[in-house]
Amino acid sequence: MADRSYWNDTAGAGPAFPRLQGDLEVDVAIVGGGIVGITAARLLKDRGLRVAVVEARRVGREVTGRSTAKISSQHGILYQTLERKFGEDKARLYAEAQEAGIREIHRLARLYGIDAELEPMPAYVYTQDESYVEQIEKEVEVARRLGLPASLTRDTGLPFDVLQAMRWDDQAQFHPTKYVAGLAATIPGDGSHVFEQSRALDYAPTRVATESGSVAARHVVMATHLPLGQIGLYYATNAPMAEPVIAAPIGRVPPGMYKNAEQPGHSIRTHKRTDGKVYGIVAGNHYKPGHPDDEQRYMADIENWLTEHFDAGPIEYRWVNEDYRAIDSAPFVGWSSSLGEAYLVATGFGAWGISNGTAAAMIIADLATGKENAWLAMFDATRVKPVAGAGEFIKENAEIAAHLVTGYLSRKPRSYDELAPGDAAIMKIDGDNIAAFKDEQGVVHAVSAVCTHMGCLVGWNATDRSWDCPCHGSRFELSGEVIHGPATKPLGSKITG
Ligand SMILES: Cc1cc2nc3c(=O)[nH]c(=O)nc-3n(C[C@H](O)[C@H](O)[C@H](O)COP(=O)(O)OP(=O)(O)OC[C@H]3O[C@@H](n4cnc5c(N)ncnc54)[C@H](O)[C@@H]3O)c2cc1C
Ligand code: FES
Repeated sequence: MADRSYWNDTAGAGPAFPRLQGDLEVDVAIVGGGIVGITAARLLKDRGLRVAVVEARRVGREVTGRSTAKISSQHGILYQTLERKFGEDKARLYAEAQEAGIREIHRLARLYGIDAELEPMPAYVYTQDESYVEQIEKEVEVARRLGLPASLTRDTGLPFDVLQAMRWDDQAQFHPTKYVAGLAATIPGDGSHVFEQSRALDYAPTRVATESGSVAARHVVMATHLPLGQIGLYYATNAPMAEPVIAAPIGRVPPGMYKNAEQPGHSIRTHKRTDGKVYGIVAGNHYKPGHPDDEQRYMADIENWLTEHFDAGPIEYRWVNEDYRAIDSAPFVGWSSSLGEAYLVATGFGAWGISNGTAAAMIIADLATGKENAWLAMFDATRVKPVAGAGEFIKENAEIAAHLVTGYLSRKPRSYDELAPGDAAIMKIDGDNIAAFKDEQGVVHAVSAVCTHMGCLVGWNATDRSWDCPCHGSRFELSGEVIHGPATKPLGSKITG
């Protein structure tokens, strides 16, 4: 997959870490070097533990380095939902955890002198649709009661009028790749390690193994965005959602971070590059991964929106990012099981994993060192709430079943000759489901279309040129290599020619 993320492109080469070679032992092994894994590693090392981060690719450059990187406790219209589903006390714990996560990012960046380009910035959710006005007003009322810095305003600084908006003060934005890579650079030494290009292929609650080495530990943290394989069956309680993201220079610079309440979604923040140019970074509506029609539709929508309102130059960056939405709207953090040996996990951030992911790392650091954490009452990864999200859950699984049986892409082409350059298709050849892409030079890249996690058929991501699984969000390169899980094994090889 060509890395088209604005953040990864503007982060420079960043620190490089060695591949795991041979066997070693530490106190805590952490699989995954995104914001969760690297923050947890730093906090555990600060408590005197030896840690080893085992990262499949490069630290900070996956979901975290492909986000819009708003550091905010304003998570769309969420608090009234949390209060309804979990009650006021737990909704307050969620709010406190986010605010603490925000403070922790500032603290760590300051303490370790990380050039994360942190900028204080108010956050707004606005609407231009009458039917969302009441929800916004209610959200401010609930948020204020929970202690959040929320207020109502129609004065947003946006270049268009809104019917209603809520403003959160004391929020921030940063450069996510620089932050995570900078924090990672502080970890190696005194028995602690960060490894890159080291994919965990085999794992247990006290051991992680890659192709070329292993780490034994008292605890293993699964900071892989969604826990790998079958751990905790989190793939059944968290639905993957993909979102297109773009970046372009803009002439009209709004003085905050924004998101609308209605659909299609438009989320914007800005970033000033070292050459003084200001870019607008915009994320769009979410859709099920591997659905290129939705992807193209929502991509075109944000391109038009940015161009229409913000005097945007050419769109220089386009990419797709993924996150998981928990069936009852709150992340799952903590031990993966209350019975015997378990992993420490953090998932289901609902596209708000910068504050949530940092708070999750704080919880994980407490649990791994035997301390209690009050926020666990909200985030407990072993909670089962079949009633809270049952309707959604059944719908998700019905759609997943359809994918298992048929896949959604046209299987009409019967031979590679029928593919035009730039085209991708799922094809049935000699009884096998094949995912094939013909590049502009006429070279066919063909792999098995059967996801190695649980057998769904993958779908095409035209922007990143990857094969993405609609069922639980695994992503694969054209070559079949895993980008991220829950799968750990590549798509079966077919031909490239
Ligand atoms: C379009 C979009 C915009 C977003 N914008 C925001 C925002 O503005 N603010 C906000 O708060 N949140 C935002 N989010 C959500 C946020 O980006 C994520 O929730 C968060 O970054 C997840 O962090 P993570 O550490 O769990 O995952 P990651 O950053 O993906 O880290 C997981 C790491 O695990 C590694 N890994 C995976 N499998 C293995 C394996 N087998 N072995 C070893 N390593 C492995 C991966 O390579 C990866 O580096 C956004 C999400 C999307 C989709
Ligand atoms: S990610 Fe589970 S089947 Fe593909």
